[in-house]
Amino acid sequence: MTAVKLVKHPLAQDALARLRNRETDVPQFRALISQLAIYLAITSTEELRMQTVEIETPVTKAEMSVAAEEIVLVPILRAGLGMVEGMLTILTRATVGHLGLYRDHETLQPIEYYANTPGNLEERMVIVLDPMLATGGSASAALTRLKERGAKRLLLASIIAAPEGIERLERDHPDVQVVTISIDQKLNERGYIVPGLGDAGDRMFGTL
Ligand code: PRP
Ligand code: URA
Repeated sequence: MTAVKLVKHPLAQDALARLRNRETDVPQFRALISQLAIYLAITSTEELRMQTVEIETPVTKAEMSVAAEEIVLVPILRAGLGMVEGMLTILTRATVGHLGLYRDHETLQPIEYYANTPGNLEERMVIVLDPMLATGGSASAALTRLKERGAKRLLLASIIAAPEGIERLERDHPDVQVVTISIDQKLNERGYIVPGLGDAGDRMFGTL
């Protein structure tokens, strides 16, 4: 069963309320996505593998924990791109792959148009970034592609998830953990999340 972790921090919920507001303009929308990505970066890496090393402070030698796992971020284009900067604020050494997918407006099926990922995915924590998990079709296709390329330890970081998308990932990718800031009510007849925030890519890039 897919594990879902919810970010409950009050400031994340406050930022999400402002992100949803239809009056929020493009620069504010981008800034809020970046802020929310920082909360997702922290929560997504709570189980990062660590190792003990000896370091020398100006005062003494000491045994300390350091990250023992490399991280790869994989934004789903377009909207996932807006989360990269915020994630890198915390995950400064992460490498970044890209997957281009869009949802056909009629069928809601994902169409892949670009894939470029770093090597050695087997050994790394791979975090897929997409602010919206709606039907789950795009995320499921992205996770399948990354598994084909060797990824074994995968998470999906989303800002808003629909119950339908979570159920889809439970079926298709029960091994993948979903980290999100809100589980919304449902999808509407056009596949939009309710209450949601509208089309994330259009609001982020000003293409409404
Ligand atoms: C949006 C969003 C997700 C997808 C979610 O992208 O960023 O990738 O829809 O929907 P799903 O869970 O039903 O697949 P969109 O297809 O609008 O492409 P865009 O980011 O290029 O606008
Ligand atoms: N993609 C979006 O950008 N918004 C939705 O509500 C659903 C899919």
